[in-house]
Amino acid sequence: MKVPHVLAAAVLASTILLPATPALAGLPEGHQPPGLAKQDTLRWVAPKDVKIGTAVAGGGHHETQGYPDPFTFDQEYRQRLAAEFNSISPENQLKWEFVHPEQGVYRFAEMDAIVQFAQENKQVVRGHTLFWHSQNPAWLEQGNFSKDELRAILKDHIQTVVGRYAGKIQQWDVANEIFNDNGTLRTTDNIWIRELGPEIIADAFRWAHEADPEAKLFFNDYGVEGINAKSNAYLELIPRLQAQGVQVDGFAIQGHLSTRYGFPGDLQANLQRFDDLGLETAITEIDVRMDVPVGTEPTAAQLKQQAGYYQRALEACITVDECNSFTIWGFTDKYSWVPVFFAGEGEATVMEEDFTRKPAYYALQDTLESASPGRGNR
Ligand code: G3I
Repeated sequence: MKVPHVLAAAVLASTILLPATPALAGLPEGHQPPGLAKQDTLRWVAPKDVKIGTAVAGGGHHETQGYPDPFTFDQEYRQRLAAEFNSISPENQLKWEFVHPEQGVYRFAEMDAIVQFAQENKQVVRGHTLFWHSQNPAWLEQGNFSKDELRAILKDHIQTVVGRYAGKIQQWDVANEIFNDNGTLRTTDNIWIRELGPEIIADAFRWAHEADPEAKLFFNDYGVEGINAKSNAYLELIPRLQAQGVQVDGFAIQGHLSTRYGFPGDLQANLQRFDDLGLETAITEIDVRMDVPVGTEPTAAQLKQQAGYYQRALEACITVDECNSFTIWGFTDKYSWVPVFFAGEGEATVMEEDFTRKPAYYALQDTLESASPGRGNR
């Protein structure tokens, strides 16, 4: 049943008491989604050193859709989230406009609930994101702040948010999408770089490290699957920051792919050159969209092509030593961002809207299983 969005928002606003979450994975079979054995999940077959993750739907485009907050209200969604994955990432719930909607006012209830869910279900959490050009609140983007004030605002945000979840967030996308496709820094649309200069990037990492010395700190971007001007820019920047004593632990590739374009065949080689620098790598937001005109279903050939992309991306990650985290940007088409952004495209995730598994799901499951046959994970 669909709950009107306005009603759902009112319910959410009026309650801090989010529904209790049974700890699912690894616990009594009765808590698994009906008919789903814990051995028949992605996290169970994943190699011990590879986290298999998903974004947790909420905020962003969901707020304009005709359903209530998925993480809070969709019980089957929650069960599968717990059962299938051992890493979760807030899709929007840690972005500035969501978590810091007014100056000095933080909204932590949703993220607290996600972190609690992760702990109950023995999952790690990826933090996304602290320093970005997008989804910033109007008070920040349209405020008339001096350079000193802006610097203080950023420092306070990073220390407050990272500090709150210290010890509970394994990896942070400290800086997201800081380069243009041609490898130049985003000096116009990124407020921090524009107003405070490129040196502020190092400060963001320093402040995050101070707030949680154990967390792994990453750069994260799209369009860097292959060897190109943008990925080259990261390959040059990261060692330069490290030489200045700045802790940068990893380079993350989002992986928003489309069957319109060929698979980025140099993905593994690209991951490897960052690995060769001694960095961790990760795939953080993979999905594979396809053309599905309204009222049509994907063909078997399209689904097969999609499965091949997911499989090749996962194989690339597994093959590279320190690629330890593979996250899909949502696991069901029910909540995918893709059709909202790309008219006529969709079907980008590994499950149908009713959670039926697609060939892409089985491609991931088989690939994980063959990387570590018979191991049996949590
Ligand atoms: O801010 C506007 C608001 O002013 C307007 O009234 C409203 C009405 O449509 O839209 C608001 O923008 C929405 C935005 O979230 C901010 O809440 C967009 O419509 C909505 O589509 C957007 O969605 C999120 C998107 O990031 C924004 O960039 C998606 O939920 C989220 O999945 C997506 O995630 C990003 C990663 O964080 C970074 N990598 C790319 C990935 C996919 O875009």
